[in-house]
Amino acid sequence: MSNLNTERVLEVRHYTDRLFSFKTTRDPAFRFLNGQFTMIGLQVEGKPLLRAYSMASSNYEENLEFFSIKVQNGPLTSRLQNIQVGDEVLVGRKPVGTLVQDSLLPGKTLYLCGTGTGLAPFMSVVKDPEAYERFDTVVLIHGTRFINEQAYGDFIEHALPEDEFIGEAVKAKLKYYPTVTREPYIHNGRITELLDSGKLPADLGLPPLDKDNDRVMICGSPAFLKDMVTMLEQRGFDEGANNRPGHFVVEKAFVEK
Ligand code: A2P
Repeated sequence: MSNLNTERVLEVRHYTDRLFSFKTTRDPAFRFLNGQFTMIGLQVEGKPLLRAYSMASSNYEENLEFFSIKVQNGPLTSRLQNIQVGDEVLVGRKPVGTLVQDSLLPGKTLYLCGTGTGLAPFMSVVKDPEAYERFDTVVLIHGTRFINEQAYGDFIEHALPEDEFIGEAVKAKLKYYPTVTREPYIHNGRITELLDSGKLPADLGLPPLDKDNDRVMICGSPAFLKDMVTMLEQRGFDEGANNRPGHFVVEKAFVEK
């Protein structure tokens, strides 16, 4: 199993009956770009059972962090949701993914748009000093159905600005916009509509979306991605890739595990 590291669980946090996160040890040789994902999982009946997970930790942190859905009959997450501190998890040695800054053209504002566990790669990006070097403003948008799914809200609002390493950049440049669609909250509505109508940028004191200034990273359900891409393409935004940087990049959040 040379393509997998065995790591140890250091911390588990349950948010709802459908969401949890956990931290593990990290092999120092495991290097990745912020925003990337890898295969992780458990040894089940003598075989590795793996699914794709974005790193929610940044690449300079000592430990790894993952944010997961719990699917009661999901082959992996029905088991993974029961992990305890000290248990072993398997972590693939080959990180990949499209949500990387080199696939984006230079710009003024970076919009990170995630629904559900699609927030995970952006928790890595908002701790990345490079994001703040490249952009004047970084906007982190997390869309969920309910308030209790806003899993990292407390951390983003209170711990991150006080972080020894990245706190100053966060205070100066990060704008956080949590939005909920199925109960009243500080912000309500779908990310697509809030961006398209101009309400979200206006709430943050920013101009309407514009391909000359704005870059967008998108992660969430297939329906969300499709609608975001349609909305951006109507505004003349082009998708970026490794060899051809563009105005936005997209990755499906890895659900139903
Ligand atoms: P809604 O409650 O209106 O469906 P899910 O848990 O289904 O992935 O949804 C997470 C969040 O993403 C919810 O707020 C949901 O809004 C929103 N959402 C789902 N589909 C889309 C879409 N096609 N465009 C924009 N937002 C969406």
